Amino acid sequence: MEAKEQINAALKKLLEIEKKRGFLYYDDIVKSVGVIQLKDVYLPSYILSRYCVEHTTFGPKWSWTYKLNSEATLQADPQDIFADIVGHDDVKNILKEFINSEGNANILLVGDYGTGKTMFIRDIEEHFPSVYVEGGNATAVGILQKVRNKILELRTTRIFLLIDELDKMVNPSKDGSDRYSEQEKLANLIDTAAKLTKSKFDTSKNGDMSFDLELKGFKVIATANRMYNISPLLQSRFGKPIIFGQYTKDELFKIGKVMLMVRYHMSEDLATAVANYVVQEEKEVNMREVDKLGNIIHSKDDLDRYRRITSQRGGMNL
Ligand SMILES: Nc1ncnc2c1ncn2[C@@H]1O[C@H](COP(=O)(O)OP(=O)(O)OP(=O)(O)O)[C@@H](O)[C@H]1O
Ligand SMILES: [Mg+2]
Repeated sequence: MEAKEQINAALKKLLEIEKKRGFLYYDDIVKSVGVIQLKDVYLPSYILSRYCVEHTTFGPKWSWTYKLNSEATLQADPQDIFADIVGHDDVKNILKEFINSEGNANILLVGDYGTGKTMFIRDIEEHFPSVYVEGGNATAVGILQKVRNKILELRTTRIFLLIDELDKMVNPSKDGSDRYSEQEKLANLIDTAAKLTKSKFDTSKNGDMSFDLELKGFKVIATANRMYNISPLLQSRFGKPIIFGQYTKDELFKIGKVMLMVRYHMSEDLATAVANYVVQEEKEVNMREVDKLGNIIHSKDDLDRYRRITSQRGGMNL
């Protein structure tokens, strides 16, 4: 293939990725155009101007000073980012503002089981440069490493640290003495990263491509069930939390029904019956139960069968 055809093919691929995801990482450009001997070709200037704000010379040794055009990466509509979450419109809008804002800030989503907190941070992970960790398995040092690697991997100027179940990040010491030591290290890490955002990463040791990267934003979004398992020091890095209260029966019915129709392609009739069943007849009323039924019920017969085998059967004392 001639260079020109190769460029066209690479551009086509880039546009497809952009259409699918809504934005491009610098890496996408490198990967798509990677088939070409970069030395000999000229990246179309509109690609450079759209995604790489500045570049210096193309040469045998690459030296780029670039900033990903982060505006392009952060303009997604909250209804698209959080399309799989039913309701919670106020939270969606606040989080959108938070995501788009300049600088550093942290936010905590706190509340009851099965109310959609994890969904929110998973959606952010899917759409934006981020690192996702679970509090129960994480250490401050491990998190720092992951964040660093991700910045270098994506060459991103903004990054989100998403910590699910932050309240599980406790040490099992018997006397409770350093119960919160990892959390307090994390608070330090957050302070350090905030300072880092005004500095540059020198990655010249990374192969033969060297560039400076100016980190523009570091934001932490964490979830937790209860505030009291989070050390006051770490709490202070987040400020006032966004509260997720337990769904009322009415909300559970409405949200559950839509969720069944959207996620499991149920007919409105069947979705209504299943949501009703959970709200009216189940002891444990929560969205996870609705979700489970979405997986196993495909008809009214299935629902009847499920109702039969889960209701008490003859004399068993459960
Ligand atoms: N508003 C909603 N729209 C769609 N699905 C929802 C909604 N709320 C909850 N769910 C569904 O309920 C289940 C639990 O949601 P999720 O895991 O986000 O809850 P959580 O708040 O993180 O709970 P936990 O505190 O137990 O971790 C998931 O299957 C999710 O898809
Ligand atoms: Mg969760």
